[in-house]
Amino acid sequence: MRAARFTLDPAFTVGEVNPRLFGSFVEHLGRCVYTGVFEPGHPAADAEGLRQDVLELVRELGVTAVRYPGGNFVSGHRWEDSVGPLRDRPRRLDLAWRSTETNRFGLSEYIAFLKKIGPQAEPMIAVNLGTRGVAEALALQEYANHPAGTALSDLRAEHGDKDPFGIRLWCLGNEMDGPWQTGHKTAEEYGRVAAETARAMRRIDPDVELVACGSSSRAMDTFAAWEATVLQETYDLVDHISLHAYYEPHDGDVDSFLASAVDMESFIESVVATCDHVGARLKSTKRIDLSFDEWNVWYMSKAQAEVSALDWPEAPRLLEDNYSVLDAVVLGSLLIALLRHADRVTVACLAQLVNVIAPIMTEPGGPAWRQTTFFPFSQASRYGRGEVLDVRVDSPTYGTAKYGEADLLHATAVRAEDGSVTVFAVNRSRTGALPLEVALSGLHLTDIVEHSALADADPDARNTLADPERVAPHPVDGTALSGGRLTAALEPLSWNVIRLR
Ligand code: AHR
Repeated sequence: MRAARFTLDPAFTVGEVNPRLFGSFVEHLGRCVYTGVFEPGHPAADAEGLRQDVLELVRELGVTAVRYPGGNFVSGHRWEDSVGPLRDRPRRLDLAWRSTETNRFGLSEYIAFLKKIGPQAEPMIAVNLGTRGVAEALALQEYANHPAGTALSDLRAEHGDKDPFGIRLWCLGNEMDGPWQTGHKTAEEYGRVAAETARAMRRIDPDVELVACGSSSRAMDTFAAWEATVLQETYDLVDHISLHAYYEPHDGDVDSFLASAVDMESFIESVVATCDHVGARLKSTKRIDLSFDEWNVWYMSKAQAEVSALDWPEAPRLLEDNYSVLDAVVLGSLLIALLRHADRVTVACLAQLVNVIAPIMTEPGGPAWRQTTFFPFSQASRYGRGEVLDVRVDSPTYGTAKYGEADLLHATAVRAEDGSVTVFAVNRSRTGALPLEVALSGLHLTDIVEHSALADADPDARNTLADPERVAPHPVDGTALSGGRLTAALEPLSWNVIRLR
């Protein structure tokens, strides 16, 4: 096969990576919270019921902003149910997932969870604009963030949290364009309530960062018109617009699935164009950034049947996709797509964190382990910090039913503050190794620190409860750097991390 090539030059950059690009998502859905992050009585649980084994994996994963409490769940959620003494917390029907919510875990427990992850973890709270509106969003903001001396801030202190939570990042509802959403709205209706909520929240604190709901997927009939209408109402009042995308192989079409990032990149570019079009119409110099606050591989067709069969159980096993090597390579490619647009995508949340379409799995009363998708995320979060270099690949291509000819190589590179560079690359070929040649210009790189790959003779290999360490990245031999030229062979269907200094 002919080599795939690109040139790296520090003069050509995309932008700084915002640490929030490595965000995640904890929703009251299935076992993400209960028996996921929170399981009082588990041998690894601390005094607050948080599983230490899960916390350790969350730290290793390297997540930053953690979106909470939903998702579809938030559109019927009453935040007051989730605070205060446990004995007073009501059990409620969760219409989104046909489950019973016990409210044993709520806002204060979530903040405690973030603190235990460490200083890199940041709260990102969605307010309910489905069944509720401006008043309840303001009450939640006052409860969470006001220092003291008002009924709601004093109530927080009475509940044991004297210090305000300091939540900066807020989502104004969730997927309000979707007919499945409790309190679903038209773009005009949502645009108005989002603008009024944003205006009022900024009166409490002008520095809050607000995310308006974009489309729940680019496949929605209203996609782009929705964004334009919502932004026309909210442009001066919000900082971000949200994007959501999930990928799976449809009808066994693995080749198109492997090129999912082609769709993700063009989705991002369409939303950027829509934001900038509205900005131009409003003669604004302000720039709206993108919050890709739900993205992942998700075998969604299976989940729809699961949910409709539920009869209000507590923490059912839902959306517990078990990911293969193939899925992890696609997820790596989606990370590359986000990094390649780091100039505009400043928040991104892998949906979700534990058990529910998640990189971390647990067994109630049993162990916690890493799915295959854990590895590309943790490596990207660890080494993808700094400035993204502009990568324009010249690659052999392959045919896909959905996207036509797609590059076999998908790649990006990030330069850290100390001058070291990490190349992230995916070989989409299912049959052949892909020779890679990278010309390094003006970067003064002389050593290869490591070339690690996630690939397997069996692309369907997975980590499971019975065999939790079946799949992990391995070192690759033969990668060379000399005379400003990096050469490597990328294994078929592989995610690669090549670190240079
Ligand atoms: O992440 C699972 C669900 O997907 C979320 O609750 C919803 O926002 C999206 O449709």
